[in-house]
Amino acid sequence: MTENVSIIGLGKLGASMVAGMASRGLNVIGVDINRNAVDAVNAGRAPVQETGLDEMIGQHRERIRATLDTTEAVLQSDISFVIVPTPSDERGAFTLQYASYAFKALGQALKKKDGYHVIVLTSTVLPGATRHGLLPILEKESGKVCGRDFGLCYNPEFIALGSVIRDFLNPDFYLLGQFDERSGDLLESVHNKVSENAAPVKRMTIENAELAKIAVNSYVTMKISFANMLSEFCENIPGGDVDVVSDALGMDKRIGRKYLTGGFGFGGPCFPRDNVALNFMGNSLDVDSRLLAENDDYNRNLAKRYVARLQRDLPKGANVAVLGLAYKAHSHVIEESPGILLCKALSEAGYRVIGHDNLAAPYAETALKMSSLVTDSLEEALKDAQVVLITTNDPDYLALTADQVARDQDSVTIVDFWRTLGHLAEDSRVRYLPMGRCLDDAGAAEKLEPLWTS
Ligand SMILES: NC(=O)c1ccc[n+]([C@@H]2O[C@H](COP(=O)([O-])OP(=O)(O)OC[C@H]3O[C@@H](n4cnc5c(N)ncnc54)[C@H](O)[C@@H]3O)[C@@H](O)[C@H]2O)c1
Repeated sequence: MTENVSIIGLGKLGASMVAGMASRGLNVIGVDINRNAVDAVNAGRAPVQETGLDEMIGQHRERIRATLDTTEAVLQSDISFVIVPTPSDERGAFTLQYASYAFKALGQALKKKDGYHVIVLTSTVLPGATRHGLLPILEKESGKVCGRDFGLCYNPEFIALGSVIRDFLNPDFYLLGQFDERSGDLLESVHNKVSENAAPVKRMTIENAELAKIAVNSYVTMKISFANMLSEFCENIPGGDVDVVSDALGMDKRIGRKYLTGGFGFGGPCFPRDNVALNFMGNSLDVDSRLLAENDDYNRNLAKRYVARLQRDLPKGANVAVLGLAYKAHSHVIEESPGILLCKALSEAGYRVIGHDNLAAPYAETALKMSSLVTDSLEEALKDAQVVLITTNDPDYLALTADQVARDQDSVTIVDFWRTLGHLAEDSRVRYLPMGRCLDDAGAAEKLEPLWTS
């Protein structure tokens, strides 16, 4: 067991790990190539925006410090976690460009260290990357041998932006890929100290852990797409209601209810790219991974399908407000956001679009500058809107009243992807369209009946 750890990369995940580990009594040294991030941590502030991070770094300041110097961090700790970016490359795989640079510095630091040290890669990578892409850099730069002079593990985290610290301290399980037992033992002892919920540890080879990490994300996206497909089924079946069907599915222990709500596509910095990357791996290894490619294609096409479905119900050229531009509520992240794709698809279909988001508006403005107006004022977004589409479960949207949405209009159409604003349906000025439910039972029955009577 060690009391001293270092974290290489003070971004959204790395800085949260610094705070989380310090809160559990470890002494943590953070390293970043960005001086602003290092200065912020040393001043007791969060270098990035994440729920509770600023407070936690401030609270545990006496056990946290940061440096630009990887060697200093390695010499003063027994284990180093590497959480640098691994963005997608042109093949759809994850580039090791940043990780290679970090591993080079770590190798040079290991050369100067006498005692045993474990390097842990936490960044998301594909199978084979740690052993074949990064380990040789450590051995070359240090002149040492893995398994004898130092240890190596792959240990990804399962966290969601907005709840990174809570997720990090309370995971369902720890996924631990180990080069050898000794490396895994030290890492497991750190986890046992850090875990607030005594999460079980699954130890395995590095390659199995690399595959398991990306498989978890990919599988979750398949559940989301499956639920979105069920939504469309329900819209075409008399009395169809995706919540009723998903609740039934969720009762089956083999399936479970999570991620089956049926609403909107998946987005954000991890899910879409992880799917694409696993498919790249499948193609490279001659594995039939069409499921993944289909899922990605289905998800990317959703916005256009929604618009095609809605065109039947929405007046041509109407003023449309899209509420929710980040990929989920409480987030400023618009990366691969379905809300952004929806704005673009509506604009292409000839609607005049204004997008709203409390946090993401400044980022969305750049992404949508050719197609839509963007505002962070809900009042402004709703002012002239004849149609309002609600894409995220933001509490401001859940609390919308009929007076707010129909203030200056005789009537307004609400398209509710999450079916949470049923109370608005009671107002005569509101035409309420919950997606995932059948809106025309007679029409649906008419289409269904000939399948069985002819
Ligand atoms: N953010 C998430 O939701 C999430 C979830 C699971 C996994 N991950 C994975 O974690 C990794 C990091 O993600 P993030 O969102 O924290 O990234 P980020 O971009 O927020 O932060 C990365 C940090 O690493 C620093 N950095 C880059 N090269 C460095 C180097 N050589 N030495 C020291 N610091 C360096 C950058 O300056 C930056 O501060 C990625 O592989 C990502 O896929 C992220």
